[in-house]
Amino acid sequence: MTPVNASIETTVRRTKIGVVGAGSVGTSLAYAAMIRGVSTDIALYDLQTAKVEAEALDLSHGQMFTPGVRVEGSDDVAVLKDSDIILVTAGAKQKPGQTRLDLAGANTAILKSLMPQLVEQAPQAVYVLVTNPCDVLTVVAQRITGLPYQRVLSSGTVLDTSRLRWLIGSEAQVNTSSVHAYIIGEHGDTEFPVWSSATIGQVPLREWEVDGRRPFTEERLEGLREEVINAAYRVIQGKGATNYAIGLSGARIAEAVLKDQHAVMSVSTVLEDYRGISGVALSVPSVVGGTGVGQRLQIPMGEREEQQLHASADAMRKTLSDLGF
Ligand code: LAC
Repeated sequence: MTPVNASIETTVRRTKIGVVGAGSVGTSLAYAAMIRGVSTDIALYDLQTAKVEAEALDLSHGQMFTPGVRVEGSDDVAVLKDSDIILVTAGAKQKPGQTRLDLAGANTAILKSLMPQLVEQAPQAVYVLVTNPCDVLTVVAQRITGLPYQRVLSSGTVLDTSRLRWLIGSEAQVNTSSVHAYIIGEHGDTEFPVWSSATIGQVPLREWEVDGRRPFTEERLEGLREEVINAAYRVIQGKGATNYAIGLSGARIAEAVLKDQHAVMSVSTVLEDYRGISGVALSVPSVVGGTGVGQRLQIPMGEREEQQLHASADAMRKTLSDLGF
């Protein structure tokens, strides 16, 4: 007869998400991951001791309402030890009117110090750059750590793709999950939709009908592109920062990694001869699973879209060159 107070050996494999930065983005990401039950453990790391401890405590107070995720927070980087995935959200944030590329110098300096400390704590982790400019910082992080491209990615245009699908779904009067369209390239001003392969269900987007008319005219498609590119600026203008949707994006990426889902997502990785592009990180639809990023999909593209992808690559290459990478 087992004594009543015997400790129950847990047989569940513990999985750990590390989040660097306990600001609005990092805590929104942790909150989203906790509610989705993405991992068994979440560790928050931030130099602001009182803040990071309070955020972990506040999240833990809600544990009863979640699948029992354990949350800890510390100003000691050792709190991230043995994380399976680490998402970096720390750094300077866009101010109204600032572009993401304006943050490159300041956030590169932070990564130069931060990345070696993270890899020392979690040498086997998958690393996801959320901090902007995330594509540029993906190259910086990969060069600093020497980790394979598969394990150094960024959230890239996962969020922009979600914004686009929400806009299209709302207008087409269909569930967002039935909209198959991607924003690719830079997570920034040179990003663009791949209209040539956009569908709702199996219907090409341009042929979709609402009440007998086709709303997705060339003019409307250009309007949608503009709305997605300007989305973050609009939210930042109104509330000072974006956090919920990017937090959900990061939690979704962590879920695909920790549950080895082999899900196709427009994350950003350092490309090698992708339509002739090498040495810069850009978002293209990629398979995300337990070891990070595998296949980068060669999706059908029109000539104009291929030109836009190269223009995005040129913008990234210029910023990297200015940074000495
Ligand atoms: C945005 C930030 C995460 O697009 O770049 O909201």
